[in-house]
This record gives sequence, C-alpha cells and structure tokens, in this order.
Amino acid sequence: MKNMEFPTIFIAIVLLLCSSSTYAQTAKSPSISPTPAPAPTPENVNLTELLTVAGPFHTFLDYLESTKVIDTFQNQANNTEEGITIFVPKDSAFSSLKKSSLSNLTQDQLKSIILFHGLAHYYSLADFKNLSESSPVSTFAGGQYTLNFTDVSGTVHISSGWTNTKVSSSVHSTDPVAIYQVDKVLLPEAIFGTDIPPTPAPAPSPDISPAADTPSEGTADGKSSPTSSPGKSSSYRVISWGIWSHLVLALSGVLVLFL
Ligand SMILES: *[C@@H]1O[C@H](CO)[C@@H](O)[C@H](O)[C@H]1NC(C)=O
Ligand SMILES: *[C@@H]1O[C@H](CO)[C@@H](O)[C@H](O)[C@H]1NC(C)=O
Ligand SMILES: *[C@@H]1O[C@H](CO)[C@@H](O)[C@H](O)[C@H]1NC(C)=O
Ligand SMILES: *[C@@H]1O[C@H](CO)[C@@H](O)[C@H](O)[C@H]1NC(C)=O
Ligand SMILES: *[C@@H]1O[C@H](CO)[C@@H](O)[C@H](O)[C@H]1NC(C)=O
Repeated sequence: MKNMEFPTIFIAIVLLLCSSSTYAQTAKSPSISPTPAPAPTPENVNLTELLTVAGPFHTFLDYLESTKVIDTFQNQANNTEEGITIFVPKDSAFSSLKKSSLSNLTQDQLKSIILFHGLAHYYSLADFKNLSESSPVSTFAGGQYTLNFTDVSGTVHISSGWTNTKVSSSVHSTDPVAIYQVDKVLLPEAIFGTDIPPTPAPAPSPDISPAADTPSEGTADGKSSPTSSPGKSSSYRVISWGIWSHLVLALSGVLVLFL
C-alpha cells in the first residue's frame, strides 16, 4: 500500500504544474490589451470657425483660404498625435505692413509665408521654454523657413530674422490645437533676405539651420517609449504571479495527499 502512494503524488504534482504553465500562457494574452485604449475621439476643432469668431483675423483667414493652406492646417489639426501650433497676426498687423511687402510676391511665396506661421506640433505656452533651447525650429514651410523662440520671463518672443514679435495672447490652447495671436506678420528671411534690399538686418547668409528638425523627433521618441515599457513590466508581473500562485496550490495539493 505504501509504494502505491508515491506514483499518485508524483502524477498529482505533474498535473498541477502542467495546469499552472497553461494558465501562465493564457495570462499572457490579456496583458497585450492593457496598453492605453484609444480615447473616444473628440470633435475636431474647426479652424475656420475658430478664426472667424476670434480676432479679428480676417486678413489671415483670407490668405489661409486663397492659398489653400487652411486644408493643410486643418488636416494637421485633425491629427491628434502631433497636433498643430499656429501664430495668427491680427488684421492690424497686416495693415501696418509696408505696402510693398506682400503685393509683389508670387502665389508660391505667399503660400510659404502663410505656412511659415504654423508648427507641426502642439505646443502649450509652457513648452516654449524648452523650444527656445532647440531654436531654430522648423515650420510648415520647411527648409530654411525657421523661427527662433526665446522665453523672456514668461512671454514668448519670436524672431524670423525680419520680424521680431511676441505672442500677445492665447486664442486657443487645448491639445492638439494651439492658436496664438502675434503682433506682427512673420516675414521669413528665406524670402525677404534675398528679394528685398535689407535695411535693418545684417547680410543674410544663404544657408541657415541644418539642425531644423530635431525638436519634433525628440518629442516623438518621448511619447512612444513610456507607453510600451509599463505594459511589459505589468505583463511580466501577471505571469510570475500566475506561476507562483500555482506552485503554492501544487504544494498544498501534495500536503493534502499526505494527510
Ligand atoms: C467649419 O466651419 C465653417 C464656418 O462655420 C464651415 O463653413 C465649414 O463647413 C466647417 N468645416 C467643417 C469641416 O466642418
Ligand atoms: C477634420 O475633421 C472634421 C470633423 O471631424 C471633418 O469634417 C473634416 O473633413 C476633417 N478635415 C480634414 C482636412 O481632415
Ligand atoms: C513691385 O512691383 C512693381 C511693378 O512690377 C515695381 O515697380 C516695384 O519696384 C516692386 N516693389 C518691390 C518692393 O519689389
Ligand atoms: C524640457 O526638456 C527636458 C529635456 O530635454 C525634458 O526632460 C522636459 O520634460 C522638457 N519639459 C517640457 C515642459 O517639455
Ligand atoms: C536663430 O538661432 C540660431 C542659433 O541660435 C542663430 O544662429 C540664428 O541666427 C537665429 N536666427 C534668427 C533669425 O534669429
């Protein structure tokens, strides 16, 4: 009788260990889903509507529409991953420009100037402290169309070479859309540095800013890494807990057989 018990116990332990390992396998699959569930998509901000009621920004809005840049910006605003930041000059900023500034430009140049007022990422006002360290920052116009930011005791100052201005108010700042009012139209060095004989600015150098796309890369990395690592560690915890709880169950099963 005594030597019959031993194989029974052995089989019982093997069976329990097997069931614990299958449990660990099934525990693995639900751990894939705890990565943040896609939040219910909120209504996208209608930029046209927003700029129509705020301001007055009618001149800028007219340019946005005539150059079709509104579609580019609205598309980016709908992209909640990156979002958008737009600097909007008031009507008075356009009327105080020298008459010749925009009138002799080609449609392409005009389009570049309007694109120059947008950044392909959402930045809250607090983010500009960091952004000033990564100046020059690339804009939607790309290439040499870059802006420099400096934070002067909480006020965001913007420099385009030809224009020095500041953010005078926040029109809208809810991720993914930031719209800031600026005191002047941002005139890019890439256009005005060569086309118009410069009176105030020093001789513009032909190639500026090779390091223009660093800021967006940095933020993209920062966003992706923290979401993946907590998922891994929590799934590891689920599996090891599953194994341990079943080992305890297996051992207590052995004890029961002995009693
Ligand atoms: C945005 O608002 C404008 C003005 O109210 C309207 O004409 C346009 O159809 C709206 N666009 C979308 C995509 O809802
Ligand atoms: C942006 O989103 C709105 C509402 O969700 C939609 O009507 C519009 O067509 C979208 N526009 C673009 C350019 O993706
Ligand atoms: C704009 O064009 C007009 C006529 O083509 C010309 O006389 C004028 O000098 C130009 N102005 C500038 C700033 O280039
Ligand atoms: C500013 O940059 C540093 C390092 O690049 C980062 O750790 C910090 O979170 C950033 N702050 C904001 C407000 O983005
Ligand atoms: C922007 O900043 C860079 C680097 O600090 C500098 O070389 C460049 O001259 C600045 N450009 C303007 C328009 O202020």
